[in-house]
Amino acid sequence: STTDLQAYRGSLLHFLADPAFSDNAHAWHEDGLLIVADGKVRAAGDYATLHATLPAGTMVHDYSGKLLMPGFIDTHIHYPQTDIIASPSAGLLPWLETYTFPAERSFEHPEHAAGVAEFFLDELLRCGTTTAMVYCTVHPQSVDAFFTASEARGLRMVAGKVLMDRNCPEFLRDTAESGARDTEALINRWHNHGRSQYAITPRFAPTSTPEQLHLAGELARAYPDTYIQTHVSENEAECAWVRELFPQSRSYIDVYDSYGMLRPRAMYGHCIWLDDADRRRMAETGAAAAICPTSNLFLGSGLFDFERADQAGMLVALATDVGGGTSFSMLQTMNEAYKVARLKGSHLPALRMFYLATLGAARAMQLEGTIGNFAPGAEADFIVVDPQATPLLQRRSRSVASLEEQLFALALLGDDRAIAATYSGGRQVHVRT
Ligand code: GUN
Ligand code: ZN
Repeated sequence: STTDLQAYRGSLLHFLADPAFSDNAHAWHEDGLLIVADGKVRAAGDYATLHATLPAGTMVHDYSGKLLMPGFIDTHIHYPQTDIIASPSAGLLPWLETYTFPAERSFEHPEHAAGVAEFFLDELLRCGTTTAMVYCTVHPQSVDAFFTASEARGLRMVAGKVLMDRNCPEFLRDTAESGARDTEALINRWHNHGRSQYAITPRFAPTSTPEQLHLAGELARAYPDTYIQTHVSENEAECAWVRELFPQSRSYIDVYDSYGMLRPRAMYGHCIWLDDADRRRMAETGAAAAICPTSNLFLGSGLFDFERADQAGMLVALATDVGGGTSFSMLQTMNEAYKVARLKGSHLPALRMFYLATLGAARAMQLEGTIGNFAPGAEADFIVVDPQATPLLQRRSRSVASLEEQLFALALLGDDRAIAATYSGGRQVHVRT
């Protein structure tokens, strides 16, 4: 047969349900085997049982002592902000003016965009992130550069051109009509092309006119399997600005709702200053929240309320929000998510955090069965995690008493160094040296 069959031995972890709502949410095989056929998962289970099913002579990659898990999914990140990560500011709005907008200007040059896209993808893969929802800039060529780079590596990526027709520098401005026209052309060029998927991307309500939001909503209806991504209720000054700009709206999320942008595959960054009516509305429409703790602490934006989100039944996932976020690592993102939950009086178990960075994110993106776990037929995007990656992790890992404790130590102490290798579609795309 011409099937490309590969097998990977190690400790297997993946999720079948949300640990916050199910006692049997995860599958764990201490001595496990992952079988990959033609870039897709064929089987995942105990080595002892599955090994016997392999045709004689099948190559078994031995990762014994390491964890094999689905690749991380980052549900909100800005590739054009790679070069301004860790730029201090008094808060979101001055940070946008001082660092973000000038940095995004350079993406009118395709060579600049291509160079940053390569570095950005290297960095994601070094951190074990195999899929991301990515903001490009207002320039259509920034999207072409991004998908050209991600497709060359065979990655599943979601991205889109920022729509922005007011309250921003002239050099970054589109118009309601040109933004919609460019978006539709990019949908036709990239959406469902290979593993690429398009996200209609109004930056946030303050930088779009009502006309632009209206046209974005029309596109979202005309192309119902595209994504939508934007920012909402991140910072108190931003929320006050939105109340001034949209006095007729009940709330910030209601602005997007009134333009038809609450629907499955809509990803809302931050969601900090919501009320319970907003949360209920997100839950009933299938819109999802991208939780960005490193960014929210860095910019002083606020603390996400995990308990209220769960009470409302919202779809939630973790995200870095680089360059407002301070790390590309989903492990570092878990570290700060844990502390945010702690400040809100709740405990976020490590199993839940790993769920939120894998299957939970896939569910928030309506991609369960495609990515996020080792269900048969899923795309073989997975990572090899090393609990002995650093002297401190090695020492701490000696005395962990449970899987939960091991994962917690990885989340709190780990970063790119804990990712021994990254695979996408069954191909190795990163190995730690
Ligand atoms: N709100 C509008 N634009 C942005 C951005 O680029 N980053 C963050 N964190 N918030 C935003
Ligand atoms: Zn953002």
